[in-house]
Amino acid sequence: MIQLSTELDELIHRWQPSADQLSVIVDRVQHFFGEGDARKQVLFDNELSIRAGEIVIMTGPSGSGKTTLLTLMGTLRTVQEGSLRVLGRELRGMSPPKMVELRKDIGFIFQAHNLFESLTAHQNVRMATQLVGVADSESDGEIKRLLERLGLGHRIHYKPKSLSGGQKQRVAIARGVVHRPRLILADEPTAALDAESGREVVSLFQELAREHNCTIVIVTHDNRILDVADRIVNMVDGRIHSNVLVQRTAVICQVLSDIPLFRSLTPRVLSHVADRMRIRTFAAGEAIIRQGEMGDEFFVIGKGDVEIVIDGNVVNRLGAGSFFGEVSLIKEQPRNATVQAVAPVICFTLMKEDFQEVMGQSASFEEELRRVIFDRQ
Ligand SMILES: Nc1ncnc2c1ncn2[C@@H]1O[C@H](COP(=O)(O)OP(=O)(O)O)[C@@H](O)[C@H]1O
Ligand SMILES: [Mg+2]
Repeated sequence: MIQLSTELDELIHRWQPSADQLSVIVDRVQHFFGEGDARKQVLFDNELSIRAGEIVIMTGPSGSGKTTLLTLMGTLRTVQEGSLRVLGRELRGMSPPKMVELRKDIGFIFQAHNLFESLTAHQNVRMATQLVGVADSESDGEIKRLLERLGLGHRIHYKPKSLSGGQKQRVAIARGVVHRPRLILADEPTAALDAESGREVVSLFQELAREHNCTIVIVTHDNRILDVADRIVNMVDGRIHSNVLVQRTAVICQVLSDIPLFRSLTPRVLSHVADRMRIRTFAAGEAIIRQGEMGDEFFVIGKGDVEIVIDGNVVNRLGAGSFFGEVSLIKEQPRNATVQAVAPVICFTLMKEDFQEVMGQSASFEEELRRVIFDRQ
């Protein structure tokens, strides 16, 4: 796990991704169980935003409210106080038919796996694709592939009574993801699994997040899987006690996904870009690039302002979300301007080869880049 610098941490706190990039927005959610004298508050004023494609791990002592929050997100409980938006829709006051519709986009993996005893592993998984209206002829191959991948190739036609606890759990996982939900809610998904199958489940989650932009919320005590988290949320006594973005790539992705230039990139290309980016900081007054030098680096401003200076004259000022340094990479010419930090600046940078690779992978990236360059002239 990478420890983030305070400065970067601060940057992220300041950064508010736009609502359309968030899969889950928990806003002042409270929850109570029981009536009258027995009424007990179990969630207190919770706030949490989860970006599309993020893997969030929720930890915390037993009884701290993790399952309650997860079931609220999944429309399995009614939101009593506060607002909860999931996949762009408000759950507070949502009608039951709308909930049924929304649940098709959600994959549930809960502790009591509720497999149908009379159905085989394959048939249990098929329940999920049938619910979203996929023809059996279309889903059969995918179901088989998933079960094989989870180490159940030889158990596909077994009924739950002939499966071990861990095997049943893996069937439930396959059922939770087979219909390609946009949001997966998993409560202790790896608890009953040995190290090897736990790892396989985790790598499946990562693939779904990276390649299909699936958002995944996992409640777990399993320290072996903490490293997959983009964000770790710790709950104590019904409150979110801490909420930390832990992966450098996730941090950069979050910043980039709010910048128009990067918005057109698929999640996969975006995390690839973020993986390759360096974080560089500059002091106020420092020259970041100099006119006349050959350039091999592209800069995106994460925080702070810069001045563009040509032949000693300040011609422009750029702030967070802007970029510079592209002209000499595209045209293979010396830098046409000096860029200097006005205040302390944090930049995310790409070296020439990586920059060119991204240009090659995304026509819209190149188009957007050329448009901005054209507008600046
Ligand atoms: N259906 C219920 N009725 C009454 N109290 C409940 C119910 N479900 C959970 N609780 C209580 O709510 C609190 C939070 O529970 P839960 O969300 O299951 O915590 P966690 O998943 O973190 O262990 C606990 O005190 C628990 O006893
Ligand atoms: Mg629980």
